[in-house]
Amino acid sequence: MSQLANQVAVVTGAGRGIGRAIALKFAQEGADVVCVSRTAENSEKVANEIRALGRKAWAHAVDVSDATAVAAAGEKILADTTRVDILVNNAGVTKDGLLMRMSDADWDTVLNTNLKGAFSFTKAFSRAFAKQRSGRIINISSVIGLMGNAGQCNYAASKAGLIGFTKSIARELAGRGVTCNAIAPGFIETDMTNVLNEEMKTALLKQIPLNSFGSADDIANATLFLATPAARYITGQVLTVDGGMVM
Ligand SMILES: NC(=O)c1ccc[n+]([C@@H]2O[C@H](COP(=O)([O-])OP(=O)(O)OC[C@H]3O[C@@H](n4cnc5c(N)ncnc54)[C@H](O)[C@@H]3O)[C@@H](O)[C@H]2O)c1
Repeated sequence: MSQLANQVAVVTGAGRGIGRAIALKFAQEGADVVCVSRTAENSEKVANEIRALGRKAWAHAVDVSDATAVAAAGEKILADTTRVDILVNNAGVTKDGLLMRMSDADWDTVLNTNLKGAFSFTKAFSRAFAKQRSGRIINISSVIGLMGNAGQCNYAASKAGLIGFTKSIARELAGRGVTCNAIAPGFIETDMTNVLNEEMKTALLKQIPLNSFGSADDIANATLFLATPAARYITGQVLTVDGGMVM
């Protein structure tokens, strides 16, 4: 099956975890993929995995929190690919701590990466999407943006902000045939969650009706669906992929 044949996708945070799974899934479905990651080493590694699948790939080392660097990367990407059809804003970080102990730097890093990064990348391609009268924007939020979490006020604010951003962009660009949706993953086994100890994982499992953690591939499958023609009539939505944590 080639659900994304002849499409070009940009995936941020594609160097590992969920972003890598999305980039590879898209390539398996026939898309050419621009891999954006913090380090050239990681983005190039995944770009090579995509080339091995017979698709075109471009690797970019960009800090998504640096608006000037994102604008420059956006121009370079459009020059290289001539067209972008899908943007997945996936890059994200956590800097956990209770409010009383949270530094301004930890607040700023998380908001600037998770929320401003998506703003800058979406802005970089919005004109091209509007002009071609098509485009899919998929923002990777989190169930924490819906539920909140003690010790993650910066992360929760960034992910809730991403949901408001998604709905606003969906309304702004709908008239141009562009959709914008968010995915809210629950607990997904990646490097980001490997830092949690067994006690925390056992407590988390009790909150998941399907009684298991998710995989990066679970998120990649949902992201693929929102990128395919089958989702053409869906915009401004938040799809939770969380084993039933939020319902
Ligand atoms: N793992 C989970 O349980 C879970 C749950 C909900 C949401 N999410 C979200 O899914 C996304 C991917 O998470 P993951 O679990 O794969 O995490 P990860 O830490 O394995 O991967 C995050 C990726 O984002 C990149 N990144 C971080 N800051 C960046 C920056 N400033 N510029 C460019 N790239 C940057 C990293 O290099 C990495 O490739 C994140 O937005 C995360 O918040 C994850």
